[in-house]
Amino acid sequence: MKVGFDFGTTNSSIARIAENGEVELARFSFSGALTESFRSLLYLERLKTAGRSTIKSWAGPEGIECYLDADDKGRLIQSLKSFLSSRSLQTTEIFGRRFQLEELVANVIRDIRIAAEKQFGAPIRRAVVGRPVRFVGAENDGDDDFAVSRLKIALQKAGFEEVEFEFEPVAAAFYYESTLDHDEQILIGDFGGGTSDFSVLRVGPAARKTRHGQRAVLGNEGLPLAGDAFDAKIIRHLVSPALGAGSMLDSHGKMLPVPNWVYFKLERWHHLSFLRSRETLNMLQSVMTQAVESEKIKALLYLINHDLGFYLHRAVQKTKVGLSHNESAQFLFRDGDVELEAQVTRAEFESWIAEELAGVEQKVDSLLRKTGIHAKEIDRVFLTGGSSFVPAVRRIFETRFGEEKIRTGDEFTSVARGLAMRADS
Ligand SMILES: Nc1ncnc2c1ncn2[C@@H]1O[C@H](COP(=O)(O)OP(=O)(O)OP(=O)(O)O)[C@@H](O)[C@H]1O
Ligand SMILES: [Mg+2]
Repeated sequence: MKVGFDFGTTNSSIARIAENGEVELARFSFSGALTESFRSLLYLERLKTAGRSTIKSWAGPEGIECYLDADDKGRLIQSLKSFLSSRSLQTTEIFGRRFQLEELVANVIRDIRIAAEKQFGAPIRRAVVGRPVRFVGAENDGDDDFAVSRLKIALQKAGFEEVEFEFEPVAAAFYYESTLDHDEQILIGDFGGGTSDFSVLRVGPAARKTRHGQRAVLGNEGLPLAGDAFDAKIIRHLVSPALGAGSMLDSHGKMLPVPNWVYFKLERWHHLSFLRSRETLNMLQSVMTQAVESEKIKALLYLINHDLGFYLHRAVQKTKVGLSHNESAQFLFRDGDVELEAQVTRAEFESWIAEELAGVEQKVDSLLRKTGIHAKEIDRVFLTGGSSFVPAVRRIFETRFGEEKIRTGDEFTSVARGLAMRADS
């Protein structure tokens, strides 16, 4: 059996083509229900048994449950995929033990694979795996190749023996094509947690026949930012100032700003839990004694020490989803020394993410230029991925192509579905 596997920055899915020819998605139990999206996170705890200390990890829904149950929080790492291109992060120390990044990623992938094996009732060793056009943090093709090679190592460590990669938006196009009874020239926009990816293709039953099953991909573009970058801006405007960003400290009579790199890490889900290193905590303790607004640094230390990234993510997510459906939404985050409440309007949020939106516009325009295709020659635009719900993202396409050309759907599973179809072709 060859499956389609979408290892997402926020959510992962795995699918196969069942004997009846339909796509079957693996389902994972979470909070007494079943979900097709496996949160791509890893939770680690140090356990003391018989005087010996060991480190245990749980991925996805199980990881969330263990994290939520723990009085004394371990380490919860989110958006692991965003580290793949980083040459400076080869290994990391957690509870005094060095872990290779590939090993951490493999722990997540292994759990997904095993859960899917149970459901599909057969060993899973072969897969078509999605990849973004440009990985988070990648500046050139070399960085992307490096990220793919690490993802491949993680997949092998997790028990996959034969893997092929496919661009995530091309996979989404396979899925979209399966809904068509005629040929179309389409543009795909896949907006996830880490990356925004675009492809222009000719798809449809006749087009497929002339290409012997091959897809006519006319061009791809990728932007290494998406939902996580939107979240970063919410943190920057609503959270960081209350935790001391931009405030001053008194160092022996000299006024200095509180180091701002801490807040850059706070904004990024994949960096947040790594702030909890002895070095950073010691530095922040000493900043707290000198800070003009020391209670803000105290609240920051509380958040880092108690590994509250997951709760923060949940609060940000709630606000962001609220803003996709309403003109304003509340932001509420309360825990220990941290208490934050604010009302945000959609217009404010859109002004915070203006730079990211401009980046999307640029990539879409450059893809059209590169392929020599005019907007009016695009028959349909298929938007997918969780961040395609953001109204300002949709508007970019409505303005360029016209509202009537936009199609949406299966935001969280279209890529895995398309990968399964590709694996079966
Ligand atoms: N209703 C919504 N409004 C705005 N954003 C949303 C909504 N629902 C989900 N998101 C965002 O979508 C992102 C997750 O989408 P998705 O699952 O498609 O990403 P992914 O496949 O894990 O990431 P990637 O493809 O970048 O690796 C998150 O940033 C999440 O906050
Ligand atoms: Mg995705």
